[in-house]
Amino acid sequence: MRILQKNIDEIKSRIDIVDVISDFINLKKSGQAYKALSPFTDEKTPSFFVVPSKGIYKCFSSGKGGDAISFIMEYDGLSYTEALKYLAGKYGIEIEEREITEEDIKAQNERESLFIILKYATDYFISNLRNSDEGKSVGLTYFKNRGLTEEIIEKFELGYSLEAWDDLYKAAIKQGFGKDIIEKAGLIIKKEEKVYDRFRGRVIFPIYNQTGKVIAFGARTLKKDTKQPKYVNSPETEIYHKSNVLYGVHMAKGPIRKADNCFLVEGYTDVISLHQVGIENVVSSSGTSLTEEQIRLVSRYSENITVLFDGDPAGIKASLRGIDMLLAGGQNVKAVVLPEGHDPDSYSKELGGYEFRKYLEENAHDFITFKINLFVNEAKGDPVKKAATIRDIVESISQIPDPIKRTVYIKESSVLLDIDESVLMTELNKIILKARRKSTAAAGPPIIPIMADTVIGQKLEEDVSDRLNAVLRRKEREIIRSLVRYGYKEVADNVYLYQYLFDELGDVKFFTPVYEEIYNMFKNGLSKDEEMEAGYFLEHGSEQVKSEIVDLITDKYALSNKWRDKYNIWVPREEEILSSKSYTDIERLNYAYIKKLIRKNLTELKNAGSKDDQQKYQIIHMELKKTEKKIASVLGIVISG
Ligand code: GTP
Ligand code: MN
Repeated sequence: MRILQKNIDEIKSRIDIVDVISDFINLKKSGQAYKALSPFTDEKTPSFFVVPSKGIYKCFSSGKGGDAISFIMEYDGLSYTEALKYLAGKYGIEIEEREITEEDIKAQNERESLFIILKYATDYFISNLRNSDEGKSVGLTYFKNRGLTEEIIEKFELGYSLEAWDDLYKAAIKQGFGKDIIEKAGLIIKKEEKVYDRFRGRVIFPIYNQTGKVIAFGARTLKKDTKQPKYVNSPETEIYHKSNVLYGVHMAKGPIRKADNCFLVEGYTDVISLHQVGIENVVSSSGTSLTEEQIRLVSRYSENITVLFDGDPAGIKASLRGIDMLLAGGQNVKAVVLPEGHDPDSYSKELGGYEFRKYLEENAHDFITFKINLFVNEAKGDPVKKAATIRDIVESISQIPDPIKRTVYIKESSVLLDIDESVLMTELNKIILKARRKSTAAAGPPIIPIMADTVIGQKLEEDVSDRLNAVLRRKEREIIRSLVRYGYKEVADNVYLYQYLFDELGDVKFFTPVYEEIYNMFKNGLSKDEEMEAGYFLEHGSEQVKSEIVDLITDKYALSNKWRDKYNIWVPREEEILSSKSYTDIERLNYAYIKKLIRKNLTELKNAGSKDDQQKYQIIHMELKKTEKKIASVLGIVISG
């Protein structure tokens, strides 16, 4: 059994090493790289580096290094296959696992072929633009007239498709491509046994995936003739799924992260023009409304998104829906409206880079505020309209996952709309409750008890200090950290996190002595009605406990959020997902234990003298493997062998 190559390719293409490692340790930007304290040693000054442009990490204190996959293997003690499965889970990639068949190989080859022929077509379109008379006089002239520089035309690999019926088709056939693959790539259209090129007499914008491979084309007509659609795009193919793609994202990744903001525009030419004035943290949804996949794609690089609206009120209102989805995704959304009659392309050209940037900075407004202002004037003096406006705005606010953020917005709306806060609050709660009832899933993940045959706390010797020990220690640390930090948070109605953890963990004995000590102190303190907060440990704990507590509570999480700074509220993101996080943490601890138990048992098996003993350890081994599988499946890891 193996993971199919196409899945592996997909996983690898989605991996963003900073994003992957950030799930485990807190990285700080440092020039082109990111650094952190080594998770593998006890160092005091950071010597662990991540270089996103190369997709690698290097830990100078332990000497370890490699790519994102090997990091996961090292950090979590997983095999290569398990690490891939973890990443597939993280990025929502469905993986197929089966014996590889002829068909798989064929499909794999087909994807490869599609990439190759699209690369061929890209070069062909570029060559038309540069070398043919028609391309030069029509296509290149058009780009030049629009003010695009030579450098930008090259950077975006812009091209031209000739006016002829089947010029590309013939050229590709001559090149040795089969008719079948040319059609599957979406380059031709077959009609009653006739074949002709899909793109004719248009300028060509190649569309890329995240890794920068061409997967489709957008083609703009240059004719004034309104019967023709302005753009013709590639159809959906094996490698082009429109709803997953954002134009420009392959070039914008680094810049978005650097600016910690992403500009969202509507068209290809908007992206290109912004690049030309030096703004590279920009992507386009290509005229369609945003999809969840697209939102997830940008949110990997920044939580902040600024939407640029053309200055036409009807158009703005049409796109508001998509923006609510951004709010639901937890993004901090800002909006900039351009002057009437302008789009980002035309306005950036009119102002030039410096002034345009300044305009964006000065005119970016928080989205909710922006929306309120947009409606508030029309609603004045018209009670019916006003009621509709309120519902609409509260609807937007209800999309925001963070309850504190919602409260702040309700306050703000109350002022701007001149309506009592409690009225808005009631309206908000109605909407939220209704949404919850609609989907029970939205009520948050249920707390599922861990499996009966729990393995946490089974006796393990402090054998060699190896990587499984380190993994185990980290998993224990995570649970103790939650306990100390969020013990008194409610994870369900009337259930505090500490109650949940104690119910699940019972009288376990932790492997790491200091965690064992903290766990027991917490329990004993509670039975004496003490407030078990960090201060208690700092006052009453042993030296080890004190220093560990300091470590645990100074662990920084998501502090950089500007919005939170602005309102002086600090809400760690993990706090919003405590119940599901704790559940996973416990299963992860189980998993780390089972790995060690398996290892220990295998040693016993090796040293077993009698046949009876051997058999006994073999049976234990099988039982352990079964449990391992169970836990793994809860965690979304599938085990090989
Ligand atoms: P210019 O008019 O050359 O500046 O192009 P634009 O990219 O600014 O186009 P526009 O603002 O009209 O539309 C925004 C985006 O919507 C385009 O980039 C396309 O992705 C998409 N779009 C516009 N018209 C069509 C169309 O007729 N068909 C399709 N499929 N998409 C279109
Ligand atoms: Mn335009």
